[in-house]
Amino acid sequence: MSANAETIRTAMHLPAEGWDDRLPPTKKKWWVFFWAYNLVIALIALAWFWIAPNNTIPEKHLATSPAAFRAEVQAFVEKYETAPGSKVVAVPAGEDAYLMGQMWQWYPTLKLKAGQPTTIWLSSVDVTHTLVLRGGGQHLIFDAVPGHKYGVTITPDQPGEYLIYCAEFCGIGHQDMAGRIIVEP
Ligand code: CUA
Repeated sequence: MSANAETIRTAMHLPAEGWDDRLPPTKKKWWVFFWAYNLVIALIALAWFWIAPNNTIPEKHLATSPAAFRAEVQAFVEKYETAPGSKVVAVPAGEDAYLMGQMWQWYPTLKLKAGQPTTIWLSSVDVTHTLVLRGGGQHLIFDAVPGHKYGVTITPDQPGEYLIYCAEFCGIGHQDMAGRIIVEP
């Protein structure tokens, strides 16, 4: 240690002399190897987006705003709610559904028909939430991002109640942010 280092009060040791020297030529091939390796891994990760099974890619993407999306969801709920105040909405054939993420709930509860393709418009009105939809061996994940709405078309094949929850930490109530999607025969 130099005299200068004695005056610096720190819990860490100073790095060894020469730590910032250029890499010696004999070690360059490792540098090239690691960067090439990283590139291959990154390309596989990108390719996986298209080649992996069970990947449902959002089909439509539109700009929106939290206020505009909330209004769309509200109009949809008022139109198709099964009973006033139930927050359960039966989606008719050929109609799009809306699902709103907000701290800390998924709104409303959607009731879909088995075998019927439905486009679910998904967005958030506050912070980013991540929708996880589980059931029937499927594990679908979509981000709900304020200012964007994603139209995801799914065709549920098995009747039942499916758990949905949030997989993006979104505040103190994140762990309670669960809901369900009901699929009728
Ligand atoms: Cu919403 Cu975590």
